[in-house]
Formats: sequence, structure tokens, C-alpha cells
Amino acid sequence: MRSDANIAGPMTDPVPGPRTESAGEDVSRETLPPVDDTPIGRAAQLAVEALGRAGEGLPRPEQTRIMVVANQKGGVGKTTTTVNLAASLALHGARVLVIDLDPQGNASTALGIDHHADVPSIYDVLVDSRPLSEVVQPVLDVEGLFCAPATIDLAGAEIELVSMVARESRLQRAIQAYEQPLDYILIDCPPSLGLLSVNALVAGAEVLIPIQCEYYALEGLGQLLKNVDLVRGHLNPTLHVSTILLTMYDGRTRLASQVAEEVRSHFGKEVLRTSIPRSVRISEAPSYGQTVITYDPGSSGALSYIEAAREIAFRGISVHYEPHQHGRVGHQNNQHSMAEELQ
Ligand SMILES: Nc1ncnc2c1ncn2[C@@H]1O[C@H](COP(=O)(O)OP(=O)(O)OP(=O)(O)O)[C@@H](O)[C@H]1O
Ligand SMILES: [Mg+2]
Repeated sequence: MRSDANIAGPMTDPVPGPRTESAGEDVSRETLPPVDDTPIGRAAQLAVEALGRAGEGLPRPEQTRIMVVANQKGGVGKTTTTVNLAASLALHGARVLVIDLDPQGNASTALGIDHHADVPSIYDVLVDSRPLSEVVQPVLDVEGLFCAPATIDLAGAEIELVSMVARESRLQRAIQAYEQPLDYILIDCPPSLGLLSVNALVAGAEVLIPIQCEYYALEGLGQLLKNVDLVRGHLNPTLHVSTILLTMYDGRTRLASQVAEEVRSHFGKEVLRTSIPRSVRISEAPSYGQTVITYDPGSSGALSYIEAAREIAFRGISVHYEPHQHGRVGHQNNQHSMAEELQ
């Protein structure tokens, strides 16, 4: 196992009780005296400790960084990565918007955002040109974190968009018209390469690819990279893969370290030093409508996402979204050819 494959550091959980008892959590723990006996108080205490360990004062980007979290392979940790990085960045004082672009609405659920069929959602933005500001909701647990939810309607948008004007750039236009100041926008993509994902790739400058440390991890990645190239060539010249994050890393298996080695040799500097361990806490958090950052801030999963967010914040200070340099004028004519190539 490579020494940098997992984050190191003391894991704390001062709260004796059910949350520390789950089998399978491979986290060593030490005991600290609790200062506040309420769940929120404990969470706040742990969050402060965890954030303190991760390092304070993350640099904020000069302009909004728009990161597209994509991998058409299902279940690799896109949504988990989106919401936990977003919460980590927000807890460091950044203003962060999560755009849920997956009809499954998992990111909305994980952030505790209501997304039943009647809730104004990203569907209305894409299909009915509703302003993004009318659908964005604040995330209650985390100051500075916002979410544009997805409802089940979005499943139909893939088809409805086909016949619409500027079908690939509807999200981009909505974001450009959104006037609230933001440091980061994280877009959670569905596990497919259809028009929803293309809208995300046109709207963003950076692609973040979570890769699960399992067999077949790299399968299908070529198709995603080809799409990134196509979108860059035709619609969004600044688009690039800026970040690769290894997820569900289990240091006990040789397979995980082999996959990590392979990904690092393929991609090099894009791969974050921090990888995300397989963690029971991470998988439990969404059922409480929470990120692991608020659900169990001292857990190995929370600490690794906080560390990954720190890396992203430091790496990205020179790479950010520059709307006026996208040079989209003159690219519109190429939309049809790109759509054909994507089919
Ligand atoms: N580090 C982790 N440790 C344990 N479980 C995890 C971890 N990361 C994600 N999971 C679990 O794996 C499952 C898939 O994760 P997630 O939903 O984030 O993937 P996804 O790529 O968004 O999936 P989809 O392609 O369906 O959108 C979820 O049940 C999630 O809770
Ligand atoms: Mg998902």
C-alpha cells in the first residue's frame, strides 16, 4: 500500500454510544471528554476539531469554480463526493452551490433538501427556463451551502431537451444569470453521458472524476474523457479534467492499492493525494439527510473528505472559471456536429 493512499491522523469520537459501536468501522479511536451533551453540540465540537486538524484558512477562489462531478459508471461515489466536498468547503467558509443533475435526486436527499414532485427544481430551470435563484434552497445544517434539487421530472428532461434551442447550454446560461456570489458550484451528474451530463460539461470548467477502487474501475473512462474532449473542442474551450479522487479505498486489499497505482500512473498530477476510505459512516449519513461531515465529523470518512477539499482549494487557486474567456461566440454552429458525434 502506498503511504499516501489514505489520510493519516488521529481519529476521535468522544461520544460513547451506538455511533461508535458499528462493526466494520476500521477507525482507531481515542476518548475525549464531551463538552456538550446534545447531538448538535457534539457534532459542532467534533466539526471544529476535525476542521482544525485539516488546517484552517483555506484559500477562496477569486472567481466561482464550477466543478462537474462525473463518471458514467454507476455507484462510484459521485453523489457522496459532491455533497461531502461541498459541505467541507462550506464549513471552511466558502459559499457553495450543489446542483443535483441526477433524476434519482440522491444529492438532494443527502443534503436534507425536499425534492418531491412539486418542488421547484433543476428540471424547471433546464426545460422551462426558470431562474436558478427560484429553485435554490439553503441546506439547513451547513451555513453557506445551497442546493438546486432534482425531482423525478428530470428523468424526462433528457428527451425533452433534444428538440430545444441551445439544448447543450441551458444549464450554463442559467448559471451565468445567477447573481448570488459563490465560491464553488459542484454539479452531481447522473451515471450516463446524455444531454444532462453534456449540460454540466458545457457549464463547468473543471471535471472531477471519482474512481472506485474496484475491479473494472477504469472501464468506460475512455468514453467520458472522449466526451470531455468533444465538449472542449466544440462548446467549452476551458473544460479540463482537473481532479481525480479515489473512493471506497480499502487499504486491506491488494486490489485497492493496485487500482490506485494504476490510476496514479495513468493520470498523475490530477489524482488527489487523499483517497476516501470505505466507511460505514459515509454510507449511513444520507439516510439521516446529512453529509458525513455533520453526521460524524470525527470519522475517517469525514476527515478524508475535509482533507480532499483542502487539496482542491489549494490546487485550484490558479485554475478557475473565467466566463469572459470561454470564447463561446463562434462555437454555436458546431453544436449539431457535436450532438451527432455524441450519439
Ligand atoms: N467511501 C465510502 N464508503 C462506504 N460507502 C460508500 C462510500 N462512498 C459511497 N458509498 C456508498 O456507495 C453507494 C454509491 O455511492 P454514490 O451514490 O455516491 O455513487 P454515485 O456514483 O453517485 O451513484 P450513481 O451512479 O447511482 O449516481 C451509496 O450507497 C453510498 O452510500
Ligand atoms: Mg449519484
